[in-house]
Amino acid sequence: MGRYRIAWLPGDGIGRDVMDAARIVLDAVRLDADYPPGDIGWEYWCTEGDALPARTIDLLRSVDAALFGAITSKPAWAAEAELAPALRGKGLVYRSPIVRMRQLFDLYVCLRPCKAYPGNPLNFKDAIDLVIFRENTEDLYAGVEFNPVPAEVAAALAKASKPFAPFKDLPLDAYAVSCKVNTRKGSSRIVRAAFEWASRHGRDHVTVVHKANVVRATDGLFFEEAKKVAAEFPSIRMDDANVDAICMWLLKNPHSYQVLVAPNLYGDIISDLAAQMVGGLGFGCSGNIGEKLAVFEPSHGSAPKYAGQYKVNPLATILAAKMMLEWLGEGRKAERLEQAVATVIHDGTARTYDMGGTSTTLEVAEAVARALPA
Ligand code: NAI
Ligand code: MG
Repeated sequence: MGRYRIAWLPGDGIGRDVMDAARIVLDAVRLDADYPPGDIGWEYWCTEGDALPARTIDLLRSVDAALFGAITSKPAWAAEAELAPALRGKGLVYRSPIVRMRQLFDLYVCLRPCKAYPGNPLNFKDAIDLVIFRENTEDLYAGVEFNPVPAEVAAALAKASKPFAPFKDLPLDAYAVSCKVNTRKGSSRIVRAAFEWASRHGRDHVTVVHKANVVRATDGLFFEEAKKVAAEFPSIRMDDANVDAICMWLLKNPHSYQVLVAPNLYGDIISDLAAQMVGGLGFGCSGNIGEKLAVFEPSHGSAPKYAGQYKVNPLATILAAKMMLEWLGEGRKAERLEQAVATVIHDGTARTYDMGGTSTTLEVAEAVARALPA
């Protein structure tokens, strides 16, 4: 493999702090890469009316992978108020750059590993080691929403719904509708990604999360497709759970789970729950993975109150960088980086405030770099 091109997307807020830390460890593992920077985040919304400018999309078309820090987003009224005066009143609408990247590049897998590294004082229980596959492009994130509800949509809903539907005789601005759209293709490919990952990583159990007893059409379809895919992997045991129940079971018996796969919104929710069991925002990381591009990121946001203070935990971003190394096929570098992270967590050589320490963001990164095995 030649020299990699990694789009470098710090974003804003603490995104910049944690990405500086990630660069220290990527340099220390001697990844042979260029890191062309890309503009993304709140300041580009304010000055250009676009938080993900076209030049950044072009950059993403030309790279092997991207590492992304975090960005600030705000409600619609604040977005309009902070736009440069020349851009106001032009009907510009703020859209989440991360959701756009997922859709533009069809990054349909959201992969979220949750591992309790030994010695982490923030672990809920020891030895938790599970991986969540969240569908990343459809479901309730399909972007088909109505508020107020157009008359033709209201008419179609009234026709399709039961006589006692509470919204039936209401004025069109007295309710709102968000559509949950799940396709067979979208459901099938995320479940296949989960099973393939399990089989490559020696796991023999996949849990499908849904709510098919109530949300029959969409979750029913998701579960139907899941069962078809599972039949192709006879050596892996499949079971399923309702999304509400799994929140309880995950807390009660986290060791009973290896790989979970879920439609978009359920996957989003259970991955925050699972991340909190292994240390919280300083540890949660994810990969948004498509056929051609993958964007890796910590799950936390831009934490504006800590921006530029180099105080926050960089381990989520360092673990995202480790996922990126794996995806690039740099398995040995990924392993060494993970061992170094595990050593620093275990020995407590450097800890940020959330872990009860006083080290800076960059001191933790430097400790990881020093702990890299040969
Ligand atoms: P947040 O994740 O930015 O921060 C919440 C709190 O968690 C922080 O105040 C801090 O106490 C703690 N925290 C976060 N990251 C940490 C780290 N690495 N180490 C230690 N402590 C950490 O969530 P919040 O405050 O709800 O959102 C702030 C902004 O970030 C908002 O504009 C939001 O829209 C955006 N956001 C962006 C995301 C992204 O870029 N993918 C994801 C989530 C939120
Ligand atoms: Mg989330």
